[in-house]
Amino acid sequence: MELVCNTSELAGLSNKQFKVNNKPVLICSFEGNYFAFIDQCPHAMKSLEGGKIKNGKIFCPLHGASFDLETGDVKSPPAFRGLTKLSLEIKQEQIYVAL
Ligand code: FES
Repeated sequence: MELVCNTSELAGLSNKQFKVNNKPVLICSFEGNYFAFIDQCPHAMKSLEGGKIKNGKIFCPLHGASFDLETGDVKSPPAFRGLTKLSLEIKQEQIYVAL
């Protein structure tokens, strides 16, 4: 597992991008849970950072595709593939992902 950040770095944010081994990793926070994805929307390969999170889904800030936080599956167009979900662990407030 690779160290991404401390949970305090997400304070007040619903998501944030971090670079881990030169890869963009998006950490999302929703109702006390954390989720990690490769931060690349499969529609136009853009970052999802700053996208709204609602009803367990993250919405791409560029064209509004939505993805399930639990699975990464696409829930609405214009994307038609899901996000790459990463497994995540929290130890002593530190967030780790498997890349
Ligand atoms: S880049 Fe995400 S929906 Fe277009």
